[in-house]
Amino acid sequence: MSRWTMSANLELNQAVERLNAGGADILNLAFGESRLPVLASLADLLAAAAHETAYGPVAGTPAVRDAAAGFFGRRGLPTDPEQVIVTPGSKPLLMAVQLVAGGDVLLPQPCWNSYAPQARMAGRTPITVPIPRECGGVPDPAALRAAIRTARARGLDPRLLICTLPDTPTGTVAPPDLVRAVCEIAEEADLTVLSDEIYRDTLHDVRTPLLSPAEVLPHRTVVTTGLSKSLALGGWRIGLGRFPAGALGERIRAGVLAVASDLWSTLARPMQEAAGYAFGDPPEIRHRLAASARLHGAVARTLHSIMVAAGARCRPPTGAFYVYPDFEPLRAPLAGLGITDSPSLQQYLLDEYDISVLAGHQLGDDAGALRFKAATSMLYGHTDEEQHAALASTDPVSLPHIRRTMTRIETALADLHARCRAEPVG
Ligand SMILES: Cc1ncc(COP(=O)(O)O)c(C=O)c1O
Repeated sequence: MSRWTMSANLELNQAVERLNAGGADILNLAFGESRLPVLASLADLLAAAAHETAYGPVAGTPAVRDAAAGFFGRRGLPTDPEQVIVTPGSKPLLMAVQLVAGGDVLLPQPCWNSYAPQARMAGRTPITVPIPRECGGVPDPAALRAAIRTARARGLDPRLLICTLPDTPTGTVAPPDLVRAVCEIAEEADLTVLSDEIYRDTLHDVRTPLLSPAEVLPHRTVVTTGLSKSLALGGWRIGLGRFPAGALGERIRAGVLAVASDLWSTLARPMQEAAGYAFGDPPEIRHRLAASARLHGAVARTLHSIMVAAGARCRPPTGAFYVYPDFEPLRAPLAGLGITDSPSLQQYLLDEYDISVLAGHQLGDDAGALRFKAATSMLYGHTDEEQHAALASTDPVSLPHIRRTMTRIETALADLHARCRAEPVG
């Protein structure tokens, strides 16, 4: 098999779009793209900045870095503009940190599907560590200790730990105690922590506590984020990194800047204008963030109920726009339908119900498990009008266009459950 394979979620999304363009009607729950309208003020700023054609500084203009420092400061992380870098999406930034940090990479299992391929591209070995029962985004502390020991005994050199708060694929956020426990191990084991906080502003309830590892281990935590998810600007490719103050942070930041200077030069200048405005958190941005988070929460909670009613175990979602059901309780009857692992579960949902999900093994999970990621972010409507209505509603699931889609999923999953009940077990 070629070492160079397409990212599973992007490849699946393109395949689904091709099939739908050819007349199919596949419901795409496999891709975490937030489909919401762009704010008019951001679009205007971008258009007005079209004449900004110079490359400018690799880290970003002083104006955008000032705004980014304020953005972090309002989220509990006092920041000097010299600590930040803007990038064309956070994906290349995550790759650059993996290249520069050195050592092998500890990852929660399951986790976002690009961390492990990036680790391999950087010449590192990804070391996956199961997540705890209650949430994703961080490894289980006891399993983390054991994994570090075992990895070292195998001659590996674990030095970077990636956490995701809130998390994909589980749509949960690790509670502060767990973050502290994981950070304690990172300190003992001399790990650098890479805290991917791209979903931070999508917490469904602002009262849910989110403790960044950068608050616990300020000297050894790099934070990455961006506007792809919170403001639904994935195609604009606006990413942001915050590096720790001190020698380690300066070394990693300088390395990332060197990688940037040879790979992407800088974030497109017009994007820096739009980003500078958004990072300032003016009232209309705050209002949009709150409305989007409320929408993600309402739809994700409904999807969660559908999965549980169909017989799955599923962590209740509290952030981002995903659920990660586990159909283990139905293993025996599912086997009667030919579903024995996550690839066959994904295929069955596509073949029988025209529903596309991302199987757990694509996220580093055990292929034998019956788990998949389902995203809600493309269910908010096909037109700007439908999406605006979804954002404005206090009960978006009752809107006809969202209701229809949720009913379609509910009917499919209820049918799967009924087929399981009809299967002779044993
Ligand atoms: C956890 C996580 N991190 C990073 C990214 C990358 O986003 P971007 O490159 O658009 O900033 C994604 C996108 O799917 C993600 O889910």
